[in-house]
Amino acid sequence: MSTGTADPLFTPLALGGVTARNKLLMAPMSVGYGTPAGMVSDKQIEHYARRAAGGVGTVITENFAVSLGGRQMPLQPIVTEPEHMDGLTRLAVAVHEHGALAMVQLVHAGRYGGPWEEYESRRRLAPSAIPFELLPGRTVTPQEITADEIGQVVSEFENAARMCEAAGFDGVDIHAAQGFLLSGFLSPRHNNRTDGYGGDFDGRTRLVREVVRAVRAATTEGFAVGVHLMSDELVEGGWIIDDAVRLVPLLEDDGADFLFAIPSTFETLRLPANEGLLGRPGYSLTDTSALHAASSVPVIANGGLSDPTLAAETLAHGTADGIALARAVFVDPDWPEKLRTRRTDEIRGCPCHPPLCLQTQLSGAQCSHWPADARERGYLGFSQGALR
Ligand SMILES: Cc1cc2nc3c(=O)[nH]c(=O)nc-3n(C[C@H](O)[C@H](O)[C@H](O)COP(=O)(O)O)c2cc1C
Repeated sequence: MSTGTADPLFTPLALGGVTARNKLLMAPMSVGYGTPAGMVSDKQIEHYARRAAGGVGTVITENFAVSLGGRQMPLQPIVTEPEHMDGLTRLAVAVHEHGALAMVQLVHAGRYGGPWEEYESRRRLAPSAIPFELLPGRTVTPQEITADEIGQVVSEFENAARMCEAAGFDGVDIHAAQGFLLSGFLSPRHNNRTDGYGGDFDGRTRLVREVVRAVRAATTEGFAVGVHLMSDELVEGGWIIDDAVRLVPLLEDDGADFLFAIPSTFETLRLPANEGLLGRPGYSLTDTSALHAASSVPVIANGGLSDPTLAAETLAHGTADGIALARAVFVDPDWPEKLRTRRTDEIRGCPCHPPLCLQTQLSGAQCSHWPADARERGYLGFSQGALR
């Protein structure tokens, strides 16, 4: 690519009250490097600090659970108790040391609550008790969340956001996509409630709006609040892009500082019509562009943007305000710095499908394209030095 086209990627990006050094973000990616007790581990800190050192302007962590019952993965951090603060604080410091903003993605997994033994005895919370395919060939029926439990979930997001700010993070990113609890409420297919949290558009969007408002109110003005918004469920009778576009100004009123457009859910990704979606370059750009046109806060593009030319063009065409990369900076944390210093030929690509990181995230994500020493160690931190 010509050297000039990438330069706009390396200009500052304002996200609410904070400003990143450039327009590249690390997209949330569950790596399973936390501890079984839900603590942030040293390995995890090194993993994220290494991505910050590689040049992204903002690191958004993988989804951290706002409660034990809202946890999906066995090694996923939880943000609930005072004892979680030490790891969170050290993580924020480590990312800041390398010049990037640090944000935490917060999730309640809802009906996707950890698909392992311990969870079989817990309530699997969903807007309605509608059976769904948890894993290929395994259908489960979740429990309808009660009004009290809804109030509890709002408080959990609020508490987690407050803890993240106290730990020194610059913002949080509320996960309302992929089929987790908040996006389940948006879906006409998964929400048939009649208590004001379901039914029409206002009812189905009520919970996510309450969460955004609560998080906004619990944190200071300078703390950024983002939303990973399900842009389209990609299934007949589901939430569609027009719904998402309609929600954008409302989320802004509620206090959202930036948005992501995330098409599909774990289940709809398995539909034949959506096969191979994650492998398609720029697969969310149509939705991103629609949200961007409706938004006065930054909209971040994510999904198949590892080609530097496509990333730069997405910004140049005004489709989005920032570019988020998940797999590209997992395989090669130096992707941003290599682009900035015009060494794109040295960028390590992520050609494997299905990606090994997806298959290994329950026990600690790995990448088949890491150098041998990183593969042996089980993660790519600092010891491997510069990647070539
Ligand atoms: C192993 C893996 C874990 C992921 N974990 C999360 C997550 O915790 N939260 C989230 O919003 N998206 C998650 N994603 C989706 C990514 O954020 C991103 O949307 C997707 O990988 C497409 O972007 P990419 O082409 O840059 O990888 C994950 C993706 C992968 C491959």
